[in-house]
Amino acid sequence: MHNPCTPCLDKRWRTLCTVIIALVTLSGCSSQVEDTRPGQPVKTRQMAFKDMLRVFEPMGTMLRTDKYDAERFALLAGQLIGKRDAPWPLFGPDTHYPPTKAKATVWQEQDRFNRERQVFLAATDELMAAAQRKDKEDASRAYFKVYDLCQSCHKHFKEK
Ligand code: HEC
Repeated sequence: MHNPCTPCLDKRWRTLCTVIIALVTLSGCSSQVEDTRPGQPVKTRQMAFKDMLRVFEPMGTMLRTDKYDAERFALLAGQLIGKRDAPWPLFGPDTHYPPTKAKATVWQEQDRFNRERQVFLAATDELMAAAQRKDKEDASRAYFKVYDLCQSCHKHFKEK
């Protein structure tokens, strides 16, 4: 029987095969699945999260690299407020399908998911208030509190 992997068993081909496997892995085959449903709820909520990350990440970089700029930090905090509500309505009942990275727990433990979302939203209010006070320590505390909430929700409700 013909085995497509036979060349890889041959020593001469091994390096090439290793390179090909590495490239395929890097290109992340799974993320190439298209969301073909009407309105693309999975793709749209993933883009909404990425959009949130685009303003959230630079705030963290500022704090971690000791380049706190109170004006810019407050501006980004305001933008986060503008983006924080977008993903949630897109977790409809029938939306656990590829290419989602959401775990089934989102739908199995809806109360907990909603509670974690509420706590997250409240923490972003605090972050906004702290950013407006323009005190670095205060802003930093509020930022990392939100950061921990992103992480803890992902740990329980999102695949790596
Ligand atoms: C209450 C839960 C919850 C909170 C809070 C939360 N996320 Fe997520 N996040 C999710 C879930 C669930 C997904 C998976 C969505 C999917 O793939 O369908 C996700 C996905 C993502 C993604 C990946 C998008 C992709 O296409 O790979 C990013 C980036 C992200 N979140 C950033 C953040 C950031 C930044 C915060 C905090 C500022 C945050 N999230 C807070 C639940 C949460």
